[in-house]
Parts: sequence; structure tokens; C-alpha cells
Amino acid sequence: MPFERIQLALAERQQQDLLRQTVIVEAMQGASLQIQGKWYLNFSGNDYLGMSQHPKVMSAFAQALPAGAGASPVVTGFSQHHQALCDYLCQLTGQESAMLFSSGFAANYAVCKTLMGEPESLILADKLSHASLIDGAMSAEATLKRFKHNDTVHLQKLLSSASRQGVKDILVVSEGVFSMDGDKAPLSALLNLTQSHNSWLMLDNAHSIGVLGPEQFSIAANGSRHKPQIVMATFGKAVGTGGAFVAGSKTLISFLQNFARHYVYSTAFSAAHAHATLTSLKTMDAEPQRLAQLQSNIAAFKTACKQNDIVVADSDTAIQPVIIGSPGATMHISQILQQQGFWVTGIRYPTVPKNSDRLRITLSALHNENQISAMVTCLANALHEVNGAVLQC
Ligand SMILES: Cc1ncc(COP(=O)(O)O)c(C=O)c1O
Repeated sequence: MPFERIQLALAERQQQDLLRQTVIVEAMQGASLQIQGKWYLNFSGNDYLGMSQHPKVMSAFAQALPAGAGASPVVTGFSQHHQALCDYLCQLTGQESAMLFSSGFAANYAVCKTLMGEPESLILADKLSHASLIDGAMSAEATLKRFKHNDTVHLQKLLSSASRQGVKDILVVSEGVFSMDGDKAPLSALLNLTQSHNSWLMLDNAHSIGVLGPEQFSIAANGSRHKPQIVMATFGKAVGTGGAFVAGSKTLISFLQNFARHYVYSTAFSAAHAHATLTSLKTMDAEPQRLAQLQSNIAAFKTACKQNDIVVADSDTAIQPVIIGSPGATMHISQILQQQGFWVTGIRYPTVPKNSDRLRITLSALHNENQISAMVTCLANALHEVNGAVLQC
């Protein structure tokens, strides 16, 4: 039978506790969401500052018509709202020029594939880089090598060896904050290394925009501040809308605007979307109390975990993984939490390496301390239950 393999692939995933299913979110209100008529506290979203529900952002969507761009940005899909957003992004990042993509996946894929289109060039990517960077790099003509996670000694070896071989175009790729672990890249060391090896640095700041300060765009190294050659970030996390941008030199952005197929052959996001995104970025800046609340919630979570003997990862960002180690146990704990009204999605292989299946707990400015403490207590009990001692939440 043709395509019988797709059924088999699904059955295999099911059997290994690895099948993913879409859930329908019926409503969202503050830190809560409704699924199949039941309300849960959401500890799985990336809306770290609560901007997706901000009245100013929501009304901005309604202000800037039309609702659809109607064409690629290189045809008639680029409005003054898109331009205003790009101008703001240049100010924010200190880069000369910026361009917009409909998704972060498309942006990363496009940069890696388009910029690294020569077989003699080399991409050095952190082992835990997002799928969009890896897939983009694998589709490029360049050679892809991965350095051990945040291991600058390994990166240095790879860079030195590439320099000895005379590789001319080397792109080092990392995330500012890693999406599944929440830890930060050693930005100064990455910048020093790329500078000393005459290579370029590309940073994916999807999970640091709005969450970390200006150091994510302008990095201290060798006694002064420097910018990475390429900075990318998404709007779908702390900014609360969707889509992404890439910023860099005028030449780089012009090159991508001419050669990146994800940009040229794809309808732009709407003017309404661009306006709402800009409104969100400006509001985030004008309301620093949101970030302060997020930071205080992160601290409250870590303290509660310590009090309950829960081992958390080395992260001081909004992403706080609790490693469980097997897909079945991860989903079991996730279900216990759901029964108690907490939505904490289990993240399994192949999204994370084998045996590091986890609860990827995310915090938001929308949570309060009581909610965090209640979830952590329930999590501690669920962890005990899975280890054999059944306790009540
Ligand atoms: C680090 C990182 N980069 C890129 C992306 C892709 O962004 P988008 O969701 O806008 O496609 C994500 C999203 O999950 C991400 O976590």
C-alpha cells in the first residue's frame, strides 16, 4: 500500500510515548487558559511578559488596516508600518538594517541557507541550537559542524582548525538563551573567539528579547562593546505577537532581501501585525514593571523548588526545565499536574536529546507567587508519586 509507512511511523511514536497531539485552547485570561471547558494555570507558554493580552497591543491590531499584506515584501507587501518596525529594531539592536520574516523558523533557515551557500564555507553551531538553525544549516552548501553546548574550548579548536585549513567564511551560530534549557550562551567568549578567528557570529535571541537587557545586542568584549554580525529574534515569545526579524549590516540585509527565498517568495505579515508588534516593543520598554515581575517570579520559582528539593537546571531566565529522563514518566507527571489545574507540557525526544525528557516550565509576568508556589508543591508531590510514594496535592 502506498505511504503505509506514515501509519507505521505514527504507531511507533505512540508506542514509545512520543506521539504529539494538538490541543485546542478555547480561551486565555491572564495566566490561565481553557482547554475542553476546564481552566488551567499555564506554565508552558512563551508569552513571558503577558504582552499578547495587553490592551494596547490588541487594539493596535485593529488600528492599522489592511489585515493582510496581500503580497511578498519585495512586491507590494511592505507598508510604512513594516518600515517603522524595522527602524525601531535598528535602534534596539544598534544594527544598520533589519528585515522581517513571518516566522522565526523561516528567518533562521533563510539566513543559514542563503548566507552559507558556498561549499567552502563553514557553519559552527552550538549542539543545542534550535531545529530551524540546524535544518537551515543542513540545507546549506556549507559544511556544518556542531560544538559541544556552550563549550568555548571546543569551539576554539574547531575555529583554529578551520583557520589552518584556510576556510574563508565561517559563521558561528548560537542562541542567546537556549529554548529548552533556559541557560545563556557565553556571549563575550563567543564574540572574542569569532573576532580573533575572523569569523561572524549569529545570535538567535528568540528567548532573550524582552527578558535580558541590552547586553544581548551589544556584547562586552576586549574592554568595549561589540555587536554580533547577525542578530535574529522572534516576536512570538515575549513580544506577544508572531514573526521574526534579522538585523545586520546594510549589505547583509540587502543580500538576504535579494537571495533569501523564504523572504522573496512568501507573503509578508500584515501591516496590522507590524503595528501591533511595534506597539508591543514600545510598551515593553515603557512598562519595565513587567520584566521586574517576571524576574521576581523566576526567583520565587527557584526558591520554592529548593524548599521542595526539586532539582532545577542552571537557568535564571523564564525557561526552567525539570529533567525527568523518560518520555512515559514525563507525560505521567504532566498529566498529574493537569488534573490539579496546572498546564505543564512534557517535552520529549527528539525535541530534546534522548533520556533528557523534561517538563519545560515557563514563567510569565502574569503569574503570581501563590500560583507558582501551588504549582511547585503539586510538582513535588507528583515527583514523589512517580518515585513510588503517593502523596496528595
Ligand atoms: C530559539 C528559537 N529560534 C527560533 C524559533 C522559531 O520561531 P517561530 O516560532 O517564530 O517560528 C523558536 C521557536 O520555537 C526558538 O525557540
